[in-house]
Amino acid sequence: MPRLPRSFRKQDVRRRSRLFCEALELSSAERRALIEDPELLDLADVMVESAVGFMPLPLGVAAGFRIDGRSVDIPMATEEPSVIAAAGYAGAIVARAGGFSTWADEPLMSAQVYLDGVPPEREAALRAAEPEVAETVAPLLDSMRRRGGGFRGLRVRRVEAGPAARRGTVCVELVIDVRDAMGANVLNSAAEAAAPALERAAGARCVIAILTNAASERKAGASFRVPLPKLRRRGLGGGELAERIVFANEIALSDPERAVTHNKGIMNGITALALATANDTRALEAAVHAYAARDGAYRALTEYRVEDDALLGEFSAPLALGTVGGATSFHPAARASLRLLENPGAAELARIAAALGLAQNFAAVSALVSEGIQSGHMRLHANRLAYNAGARGAEIAQVAERLAALGSFNAETAARELGAIRSSS
Ligand code: MEV
Repeated sequence: MPRLPRSFRKQDVRRRSRLFCEALELSSAERRALIEDPELLDLADVMVESAVGFMPLPLGVAAGFRIDGRSVDIPMATEEPSVIAAAGYAGAIVARAGGFSTWADEPLMSAQVYLDGVPPEREAALRAAEPEVAETVAPLLDSMRRRGGGFRGLRVRRVEAGPAARRGTVCVELVIDVRDAMGANVLNSAAEAAAPALERAAGARCVIAILTNAASERKAGASFRVPLPKLRRRGLGGGELAERIVFANEIALSDPERAVTHNKGIMNGITALALATANDTRALEAAVHAYAARDGAYRALTEYRVEDDALLGEFSAPLALGTVGGATSFHPAARASLRLLENPGAAELARIAAALGLAQNFAAVSALVSEGIQSGHMRLHANRLAYNAGARGAEIAQVAERLAALGSFNAETAARELGAIRSSS
Protein backbone atom coordinates (compact mmCIF):
# COMPACT_ATOMS: atom_id res chain seq x y z
CA MET A 1 0.00 0.00 0.00
CA PRO A 2 1.25 3.50 -0.85
CA ARG A 3 3.42 5.15 1.78
CA LEU A 4 5.29 8.36 1.34
CA PRO A 5 8.87 8.48 2.67
CA ARG A 6 9.29 10.16 6.05
CA SER A 7 11.39 12.91 4.49
CA PHE A 8 8.58 13.72 2.02
CA ARG A 9 7.66 17.07 3.53
CA LYS A 10 11.23 18.38 3.44
CA GLN A 11 11.84 17.80 -0.29
CA ASP A 12 11.42 20.49 -2.95
CA VAL A 13 8.16 20.54 -4.91
CA ARG A 14 9.55 18.70 -7.93
CA ARG A 15 10.94 15.85 -5.86
CA ARG A 16 7.79 15.73 -3.68
CA SER A 17 5.65 15.43 -6.77
CA ARG A 18 7.93 12.68 -8.15
CA LEU A 19 7.83 10.76 -4.84
CA PHE A 20 4.02 11.03 -4.78
CA CYS A 21 3.75 9.68 -8.34
CA GLU A 22 6.20 6.87 -7.61
CA ALA A 23 4.60 5.84 -4.31
CA LEU A 24 1.21 5.59 -6.01
CA GLU A 25 2.64 4.11 -9.22
CA LEU A 26 0.69 6.64 -11.24
CA SER A 27 0.37 6.11 -14.97
CA SER A 28 1.74 8.79 -17.28
CA ALA A 29 -1.84 10.04 -17.95
CA GLU A 30 -2.45 10.30 -14.21
CA ARG A 31 0.86 12.12 -13.74
CA ARG A 32 -0.07 14.61 -16.45
CA ALA A 33 -3.47 15.15 -14.85
CA LEU A 34 -1.78 16.20 -11.62
CA ILE A 35 0.12 18.84 -13.53
CA GLU A 36 -1.68 19.99 -16.67
CA ASP A 37 -2.30 18.50 -20.05
CA PRO A 38 -4.22 19.78 -23.09
CA GLU A 39 -5.22 16.17 -23.85
CA LEU A 40 -7.26 16.28 -20.66
CA LEU A 41 -9.70 18.75 -22.17
CA ASP A 42 -12.01 15.79 -22.81
CA LEU A 43 -12.09 15.22 -19.07
CA ALA A 44 -13.11 18.85 -18.47
CA ASP A 45 -15.71 18.48 -21.18
CA VAL A 46 -17.42 15.48 -19.59
CA MET A 47 -17.30 17.10 -16.17
CA VAL A 48 -19.01 20.41 -17.00
CA GLU A 49 -20.69 22.22 -19.88
CA SER A 50 -18.90 24.87 -21.94
CA ALA A 51 -15.55 23.73 -20.56
CA VAL A 52 -12.51 25.66 -21.70
CA GLY A 53 -9.83 24.10 -19.50
CA PHE A 54 -8.91 23.44 -15.90
CA MET A 55 -8.36 25.74 -12.97
CA PRO A 56 -5.56 23.84 -11.27
CA LEU A 57 -5.42 24.06 -7.49
CA PRO A 58 -2.46 22.79 -5.51
CA LEU A 59 -2.86 19.22 -4.25
CA GLY A 60 -0.85 18.63 -1.09
CA VAL A 61 -0.57 15.97 1.60
CA ALA A 62 -1.01 16.35 5.35
CA ALA A 63 1.19 13.42 6.31
CA GLY A 64 1.53 11.52 9.55
CA PHE A 65 -2.04 11.30 10.91
CA ARG A 66 -2.93 8.43 13.19
CA ILE A 67 -6.60 7.53 12.95
CA ASP A 68 -8.13 4.55 14.78
CA GLY A 69 -4.71 2.99 15.16
CA ARG A 70 -3.73 3.40 11.50
CA SER A 71 -1.22 5.79 9.87
CA VAL A 72 -2.92 8.00 7.29
CA ASP A 73 -1.52 10.58 4.86
CA ILE A 74 -4.36 12.89 3.83
CA PRO A 75 -4.61 14.50 0.37
CA MET A 76 -5.85 18.10 0.40
CA ALA A 77 -6.63 20.49 -2.46
CA THR A 78 -6.80 24.13 -1.44
CA GLU A 79 -5.83 27.61 -2.57
CA GLU A 80 -5.14 28.77 0.99
CA PRO A 81 -1.60 28.81 2.38
CA SER A 82 -0.91 27.33 5.82
CA VAL A 83 -3.97 25.03 5.83
CA ILE A 84 -1.97 21.89 5.05
CA ALA A 85 0.91 22.87 7.34
CA ALA A 86 -1.59 23.47 10.16
CA ALA A 87 -3.28 20.10 9.60
CA GLY A 88 0.09 18.33 9.62
CA TYR A 89 1.12 20.15 12.82
CA ALA A 90 -2.03 19.14 14.71
CA GLY A 91 -2.01 15.64 13.18
CA ALA A 92 1.52 15.08 14.53
CA ILE A 93 0.67 16.28 18.08
CA VAL A 94 -2.38 14.03 18.24
CA ALA A 95 -0.46 11.11 16.68
CA ARG A 96 2.18 11.34 19.43
CA ALA A 97 -0.65 11.13 21.98
CA GLY A 98 -2.19 7.99 20.42
CA GLY A 99 -4.17 9.46 17.53
CA PHE A 100 -7.80 10.20 16.68
CA SER A 101 -10.75 7.92 17.43
CA THR A 102 -13.55 8.22 14.90
CA TRP A 103 -17.02 6.88 14.09
CA ALA A 104 -19.57 7.17 11.27
CA ASP A 105 -23.30 6.50 10.91
CA GLU A 106 -24.71 4.12 8.32
CA PRO A 107 -24.84 5.96 4.95
CA LEU A 108 -28.56 6.82 5.04
CA MET A 109 -29.67 9.68 2.80
CA SER A 110 -33.15 10.84 1.95
CA ALA A 111 -34.89 12.04 -1.18
CA GLN A 112 -37.89 14.28 -0.74
CA VAL A 113 -41.11 14.62 -2.66
CA TYR A 114 -43.13 17.75 -1.73
CA LEU A 115 -46.86 17.56 -2.44
CA ASP A 116 -49.10 20.61 -2.55
CA GLY A 117 -52.38 20.72 -0.60
CA VAL A 118 -52.62 17.23 0.91
CA PRO A 119 -55.76 16.79 3.06
CA PRO A 120 -54.96 15.20 6.46
CA GLU A 121 -57.07 12.12 5.65
CA ARG A 122 -54.77 11.29 2.68
CA GLU A 123 -51.62 10.95 4.81
CA ALA A 124 -52.45 7.31 5.57
CA ALA A 125 -52.70 6.61 1.83
CA LEU A 126 -49.23 8.09 1.36
CA ARG A 127 -47.82 5.78 4.02
CA ALA A 128 -49.62 2.86 2.43
CA ALA A 129 -47.91 3.67 -0.88
CA GLU A 130 -44.57 2.41 0.50
CA PRO A 131 -44.62 -1.03 -1.24
CA GLU A 132 -45.46 0.56 -4.60
CA VAL A 133 -42.70 3.15 -4.14
CA ALA A 134 -40.23 0.40 -3.14
CA GLU A 135 -41.08 -1.53 -6.30
CA THR A 136 -40.83 1.57 -8.49
CA VAL A 137 -37.41 2.63 -7.25
CA ALA A 138 -35.95 -0.90 -7.02
CA PRO A 139 -34.47 -0.99 -10.55
CA LEU A 140 -32.68 2.33 -9.87
CA LEU A 141 -31.10 0.91 -6.73
CA ASP A 142 -29.90 -2.40 -8.20
CA SER A 143 -26.19 -1.76 -7.91
CA MET A 144 -26.60 -0.20 -4.47
CA ARG A 145 -28.56 -3.27 -3.32
CA ARG A 146 -25.79 -5.54 -4.58
CA ARG A 147 -23.40 -3.61 -2.32
CA GLY A 148 -25.72 -3.98 0.70
CA GLY A 149 -27.67 -0.73 0.35
CA GLY A 150 -31.07 0.12 -1.10
CA PHE A 151 -34.52 1.45 -0.14
CA ARG A 152 -35.06 1.55 3.64
CA GLY A 153 -38.52 3.06 3.95
CA LEU A 154 -40.77 6.04 3.57
CA ARG A 155 -41.63 8.83 6.02
CA VAL A 156 -44.45 11.34 5.77
CA ARG A 157 -44.37 14.72 7.50
CA ARG A 158 -46.21 18.02 7.17
CA VAL A 159 -44.31 21.24 6.51
CA GLU A 160 -44.92 22.98 9.82
CA ALA A 161 -44.64 26.73 9.26
CA GLY A 162 -45.16 29.51 6.77
CA PRO A 163 -47.17 29.72 3.55
CA ALA A 164 -46.24 26.16 2.53
CA ALA A 165 -47.79 24.87 5.77
CA ARG A 166 -50.95 26.92 5.18
CA ARG A 167 -51.27 25.30 1.74
CA GLY A 168 -51.14 21.85 3.36
CA THR A 169 -47.74 20.90 1.95
CA VAL A 170 -46.54 17.42 2.79
CA CYS A 171 -43.03 16.06 2.41
CA VAL A 172 -42.58 12.36 1.66
CA GLU A 173 -39.05 11.21 2.42
CA LEU A 174 -37.60 8.14 0.76
CA VAL A 175 -34.81 6.81 2.97
CA ILE A 176 -32.05 5.12 1.00
CA ASP A 177 -28.83 3.44 2.10
CA VAL A 178 -26.36 4.65 -0.52
CA ARG A 179 -23.33 2.65 0.72
CA ASP A 180 -20.12 4.16 -0.76
CA ALA A 181 -21.81 6.70 -3.05
CA MET A 182 -22.53 10.29 -2.12
CA GLY A 183 -25.85 9.35 -3.67
CA ALA A 184 -27.21 12.56 -5.20
CA ASN A 185 -27.91 11.11 -8.65
CA VAL A 186 -29.67 8.00 -7.48
CA LEU A 187 -31.67 9.86 -4.83
CA ASN A 188 -32.87 12.42 -7.35
CA SER A 189 -33.82 9.68 -9.81
CA ALA A 190 -35.66 7.80 -7.07
CA ALA A 191 -37.57 10.92 -5.98
CA GLU A 192 -38.67 11.67 -9.55
CA ALA A 193 -39.63 8.04 -10.21
CA ALA A 194 -41.68 7.82 -7.01
CA ALA A 195 -43.50 11.13 -7.51
CA PRO A 196 -46.37 9.88 -9.76
CA ALA A 197 -47.37 7.10 -7.33
CA LEU A 198 -47.28 9.58 -4.46
CA GLU A 199 -49.35 12.11 -6.40
CA ARG A 200 -51.99 9.43 -7.00
CA ALA A 201 -51.99 8.40 -3.33
CA ALA A 202 -52.28 12.01 -2.09
CA GLY A 203 -54.59 13.28 -4.83
CA ALA A 204 -52.16 16.21 -4.91
CA ARG A 205 -49.53 17.69 -7.24
CA CYS A 206 -45.80 17.12 -6.75
CA VAL A 207 -44.00 20.47 -6.50
CA ILE A 208 -40.40 19.40 -5.96
CA ALA A 209 -38.64 16.02 -6.04
CA ILE A 210 -34.97 16.06 -4.96
CA LEU A 211 -32.57 14.78 -2.32
CA THR A 212 -31.92 16.78 0.82
CA ASN A 213 -28.30 17.75 1.27
CA ALA A 214 -28.89 18.04 5.03
CA ALA A 215 -27.71 14.41 5.39
CA SER A 216 -28.81 14.57 9.04
CA GLU A 217 -28.65 10.78 9.42
CA ARG A 218 -25.16 10.46 7.93
CA LYS A 219 -22.95 11.97 10.58
CA ALA A 220 -19.33 11.23 11.40
CA GLY A 221 -17.21 12.32 14.29
CA ALA A 222 -13.71 12.32 15.72
CA SER A 223 -12.11 12.87 19.10
CA PHE A 224 -8.64 13.01 20.63
CA ARG A 225 -7.04 13.11 24.05
CA VAL A 226 -3.67 14.83 24.43
CA PRO A 227 -2.04 14.71 27.90
CA LEU A 228 -1.21 18.26 29.04
CA PRO A 229 2.55 17.56 29.35
CA LYS A 230 2.55 16.80 25.59
CA LEU A 231 0.98 20.18 24.79
CA ARG A 232 2.98 23.39 24.62
CA ARG A 233 3.36 26.29 22.27
CA ARG A 234 5.45 29.44 22.16
CA GLY A 235 6.28 29.64 25.86
CA LEU A 236 2.82 28.45 26.98
CA GLY A 237 2.69 25.27 29.07
CA GLY A 238 0.11 22.55 28.36
CA GLY A 239 -2.28 23.57 31.16
CA GLU A 240 -2.39 27.22 30.12
CA LEU A 241 -2.70 26.41 26.41
CA ALA A 242 -5.51 23.90 27.04
CA GLU A 243 -7.40 26.34 29.24
CA ARG A 244 -7.18 29.01 26.55
CA ILE A 245 -8.37 26.57 23.87
CA VAL A 246 -11.37 25.56 26.00
CA PHE A 247 -12.25 29.21 26.57
CA ALA A 248 -11.84 30.11 22.87
CA ASN A 249 -14.20 27.23 22.04
CA GLU A 250 -16.71 28.48 24.62
CA ILE A 251 -16.72 31.85 22.85
CA ALA A 252 -17.46 30.09 19.55
CA LEU A 253 -20.23 28.07 21.23
CA SER A 254 -21.87 31.26 22.51
CA ASP A 255 -21.25 33.85 19.80
CA PRO A 256 -22.39 33.13 16.21
CA GLU A 257 -20.06 35.82 14.78
CA ARG A 258 -17.06 33.90 16.09
CA ALA A 259 -18.63 30.48 15.41
CA VAL A 260 -18.77 31.17 11.66
CA THR A 261 -15.00 31.69 11.47
CA HIS A 262 -14.32 28.82 13.86
CA ASN A 263 -16.37 26.43 11.69
CA LYS A 264 -14.82 27.86 8.53
CA GLY A 265 -11.49 26.72 9.97
CA ILE A 266 -12.87 23.18 10.40
CA MET A 267 -14.03 23.23 6.78
CA ASN A 268 -10.58 24.38 5.61
CA GLY A 269 -9.61 20.76 6.18
CA ILE A 270 -12.81 18.91 5.26
CA THR A 271 -13.45 20.87 2.06
CA ALA A 272 -9.82 20.43 0.96
CA LEU A 273 -10.15 16.66 1.36
CA ALA A 274 -13.53 16.72 -0.41
CA LEU A 275 -12.01 18.65 -3.30
CA ALA A 276 -8.99 16.34 -3.50
CA THR A 277 -11.38 13.41 -3.86
CA ALA A 278 -13.72 15.29 -6.27
CA ASN A 279 -16.62 15.26 -3.81
CA ASP A 280 -19.39 17.86 -3.77
CA THR A 281 -17.95 20.57 -1.51
CA ARG A 282 -21.07 22.77 -1.63
CA ALA A 283 -23.33 19.96 -0.42
CA LEU A 284 -20.98 19.26 2.46
CA GLU A 285 -20.66 22.89 3.45
CA ALA A 286 -24.45 23.42 3.33
CA ALA A 287 -25.03 20.37 5.55
CA VAL A 288 -22.34 21.25 8.06
CA HIS A 289 -23.44 24.86 8.50
CA ALA A 290 -27.13 23.89 8.72
CA TYR A 291 -26.18 21.37 11.41
CA ALA A 292 -24.27 24.09 13.28
CA ALA A 293 -27.57 26.02 13.48
CA ARG A 294 -29.82 23.02 14.23
CA ASP A 295 -31.10 24.35 17.56
CA GLY A 296 -31.86 27.80 16.18
CA ALA A 297 -28.53 29.46 17.03
CA TYR A 298 -25.38 29.03 14.95
CA ARG A 299 -22.68 27.40 17.10
CA ALA A 300 -19.19 25.92 17.01
CA LEU A 301 -19.13 22.27 16.02
CA THR A 302 -16.29 21.33 18.34
CA GLU A 303 -16.16 20.62 22.06
CA TYR A 304 -13.03 20.85 24.21
CA ARG A 305 -12.51 20.12 27.89
CA VAL A 306 -9.73 19.35 30.30
CA GLU A 307 -10.12 16.05 32.09
CA ASP A 308 -7.62 13.92 34.03
CA ASP A 309 -4.68 16.14 33.09
CA ALA A 310 -5.43 15.93 29.35
CA LEU A 311 -7.09 18.09 26.70
CA LEU A 312 -10.05 16.35 25.04
CA GLY A 313 -11.29 17.52 21.64
CA GLU A 314 -14.42 16.37 19.81
CA PHE A 315 -16.13 17.17 16.52
CA SER A 316 -19.11 15.73 14.68
CA ALA A 317 -21.28 16.78 11.74
CA PRO A 318 -23.11 15.31 8.74
CA LEU A 319 -20.40 14.29 6.25
CA ALA A 320 -21.91 12.86 3.06
CA LEU A 321 -18.77 11.97 1.15
CA GLY A 322 -18.65 9.34 -1.58
CA THR A 323 -15.87 7.11 -2.86
CA VAL A 324 -17.71 5.73 -5.90
CA GLY A 325 -19.77 7.48 -8.55
CA GLY A 326 -19.55 11.04 -9.81
CA ALA A 327 -16.21 12.62 -10.65
CA THR A 328 -14.66 10.68 -7.75
CA SER A 329 -14.65 7.58 -9.94
CA PHE A 330 -12.93 9.02 -12.99
CA HIS A 331 -11.00 12.18 -12.17
CA PRO A 332 -7.36 10.99 -12.16
CA ALA A 333 -6.29 13.28 -9.32
CA ALA A 334 -9.28 12.16 -7.21
CA ARG A 335 -8.42 8.52 -7.89
CA ALA A 336 -4.81 9.15 -6.90
CA SER A 337 -6.04 10.83 -3.69
CA LEU A 338 -8.23 7.86 -2.85
CA ARG A 339 -5.33 5.53 -3.57
CA LEU A 340 -3.17 7.48 -1.12
CA LEU A 341 -5.90 6.83 1.45
CA GLU A 342 -5.77 3.11 0.53
CA ASN A 343 -9.13 3.21 -1.26
CA PRO A 344 -11.47 3.79 1.69
CA GLY A 345 -15.21 3.24 1.66
CA ALA A 346 -17.46 6.30 2.12
CA ALA A 347 -17.83 5.81 5.88
CA GLU A 348 -14.09 5.56 6.31
CA LEU A 349 -13.53 8.67 4.21
CA ALA A 350 -16.07 10.53 6.39
CA ARG A 351 -14.18 9.41 9.51
CA ILE A 352 -10.89 10.67 8.05
CA ALA A 353 -12.63 13.95 7.17
CA ALA A 354 -13.89 14.29 10.75
CA ALA A 355 -10.38 13.76 12.15
CA LEU A 356 -8.97 16.26 9.66
CA GLY A 357 -11.62 18.88 10.50
CA LEU A 358 -10.90 18.52 14.20
CA ALA A 359 -7.13 18.71 13.59
CA GLN A 360 -7.59 21.84 11.49
CA ASN A 361 -9.60 23.51 14.24
CA PHE A 362 -7.18 22.43 16.97
CA ALA A 363 -4.26 23.92 14.98
CA ALA A 364 -6.09 27.19 14.23
CA VAL A 365 -7.33 27.74 17.78
CA SER A 366 -3.93 26.79 19.28
CA ALA A 367 -2.31 29.46 17.11
CA LEU A 368 -5.02 32.03 17.82
CA VAL A 369 -4.72 31.71 21.60
CA SER A 370 -0.91 31.82 21.52
CA GLU A 371 1.12 33.71 18.92
CA GLY A 372 -1.82 34.49 16.59
CA ILE A 373 -2.05 33.25 13.02
CA GLN A 374 -0.42 36.10 11.16
CA SER A 375 3.24 35.24 11.75
CA GLY A 376 2.80 31.86 10.02
CA HIS A 377 0.68 33.43 7.29
CA MET A 378 3.25 36.14 6.56
CA ARG A 379 6.01 33.54 6.04
CA LEU A 380 3.86 31.87 3.38
CA HIS A 381 2.75 35.20 1.97
CA ALA A 382 6.45 36.01 1.42
CA ASN A 383 6.69 32.97 -0.91
CA ARG A 384 3.81 34.36 -2.98
CA LEU A 385 5.38 37.82 -3.13
CA ALA A 386 8.62 36.22 -4.33
CA TYR A 387 6.75 34.21 -6.97
CA ASN A 388 4.83 37.29 -8.17
CA ALA A 389 8.11 39.19 -8.47
CA GLY A 390 9.34 36.51 -10.89
CA ALA A 391 11.33 34.22 -8.56
CA ARG A 392 11.33 30.57 -9.56
CA GLY A 393 12.73 27.35 -8.05
CA ALA A 394 15.27 27.97 -5.26
CA GLU A 395 14.98 31.75 -5.71
CA ILE A 396 11.52 31.68 -4.07
CA ALA A 397 12.86 30.60 -0.66
CA GLN A 398 15.84 32.96 -0.97
CA VAL A 399 13.65 35.99 -1.64
CA ALA A 400 11.14 34.96 1.05
CA GLU A 401 13.90 34.59 3.63
CA ARG A 402 15.17 38.08 2.86
CA LEU A 403 11.65 39.52 3.17
CA ALA A 404 11.20 37.83 6.54
CA ALA A 405 14.62 39.03 7.75
CA LEU A 406 13.79 42.58 6.67
CA GLY A 407 10.27 42.32 8.06
CA SER A 408 9.10 43.96 4.82
CA PHE A 409 6.35 42.08 2.98
CA ASN A 410 5.61 43.99 -0.21
CA ALA A 411 6.06 43.71 -3.98
CA GLU A 412 8.78 46.39 -4.25
CA THR A 413 11.04 44.75 -1.68
CA ALA A 414 10.49 41.35 -3.32
CA ALA A 415 11.48 42.72 -6.75
CA ARG A 416 14.51 44.49 -5.30
CA GLU A 417 15.73 41.42 -3.39
CA LEU A 418 15.23 39.17 -6.41
CA GLY A 419 17.33 41.59 -8.48
CA ALA A 420 20.02 41.54 -5.79
CA ILE A 421 20.08 37.72 -5.66
CA ARG A 422 20.33 37.44 -9.43
CA SER A 423 23.06 40.03 -9.81
CA SER A 424 25.14 38.37 -7.07
CA SER A 425 24.96 34.90 -8.63
C1 MEV B 1 -8.41 30.80 8.41
O1 MEV B 1 -8.63 30.27 7.12
C2 MEV B 1 -9.12 29.96 9.45
C3 MEV B 1 -9.16 30.55 10.84
O2 MEV B 1 -9.71 31.87 10.78
C4 MEV B 1 -10.03 29.67 11.68
C5 MEV B 1 -10.36 30.23 13.05
O3 MEV B 1 -10.37 31.46 13.21
O4 MEV B 1 -10.64 29.42 13.95
C6 MEV B 1 -7.78 30.69 11.43
